[in-house]
Amino acid sequence: MSRIKDALEKAKMEREGVQPVSFADTPEPESDSSSPAGLPQTKFINYSETAIKKYKIITPFFDNTNLSEHFKLLRAKTISRVQENDNRTILITSSLEKEGKTFVAVNLAVTFAREVDQTVLLVDVNLNNPCLLKAFGIKTEEGLTDYLLNDKPLSDLLISPGIENLVLLPAGRKVTNSAELLRSKKMQQLISEMKNRYEDRYIFFDAPPMLTCVDTMVMSKFIDKALFVVESGRVKPQKVSEALNLLEENKILGTVLNKRSPVFAP
Ligand SMILES: Nc1ncnc2c1ncn2[C@@H]1O[C@H](COP(=O)(O)OP(=O)(O)OP(=O)(O)O)[C@@H](O)[C@H]1O
Ligand SMILES: [Mg+2]
Repeated sequence: MSRIKDALEKAKMEREGVQPVSFADTPEPESDSSSPAGLPQTKFINYSETAIKKYKIITPFFDNTNLSEHFKLLRAKTISRVQENDNRTILITSSLEKEGKTFVAVNLAVTFAREVDQTVLLVDVNLNNPCLLKAFGIKTEEGLTDYLLNDKPLSDLLISPGIENLVLLPAGRKVTNSAELLRSKKMQQLISEMKNRYEDRYIFFDAPPMLTCVDTMVMSKFIDKALFVVESGRVKPQKVSEALNLLEENKILGTVLNKRSPVFAP
């Protein structure tokens, strides 16, 4: 990209309030014709243009080339780190609230879904503070907890938000025993079934922060890898290492520096 184009893109990002994201250096570690992400059946509920713009999700309505390049790079690095061992269940977490987990999870999922022959399921496991649907501007009550607690069929819960190859599983009704549900046999079976049914499917889990909710530590036992978001300039390194220590070392896929400034340098 030329320097002028770079500068224009940077100015556009600043106007839109987007701040760059990048993989930190440490730590190193289609389908069915009936459904866009190879799942048996899904409900079609289109995302709202306003929500997508507000949350800054890469779509034709929020087409930010620079942000899109950051996420393409994240996708490439993620694939290079997980492909060999088929680690396709990936949880996104951080130390504290509002560091950008949902922003990273959704934009990464959208970027993966743009790959040819790649399908993506994005699951909201932030059961006490679900935000996934907010990013798409979709309103529905039911989701994962209704499957786990009330045997609601997945086909009634999965949502196609109008982005090819992407399917969402919302969190569902509020519960008081989220950690128990997430460590249940049924949840473990769901994760392995979601992964094993289609070998070209990535499953991303939008999780709560490590230091304020035990649920992520509980769930981390059952997923392949965890991607760790750090809001640049806000969270103290001590908090980051405290949170990282709660994860098994071999589960840490990498750290994403979010809202990083100055503009991303490879
Ligand atoms: N790099 C970024 N540039 C601009 N805005 C961002 C960026 N990252 C996150 N945001 C915005 O910051 C807000 C909080 O982000 P987000 O909801 O993803 O945080 P979170 O870590 O998921 O929060 P929670 O802990 O509540 O789940 C959102 O409005 C999101 O659009
Ligand atoms: Mg969130």
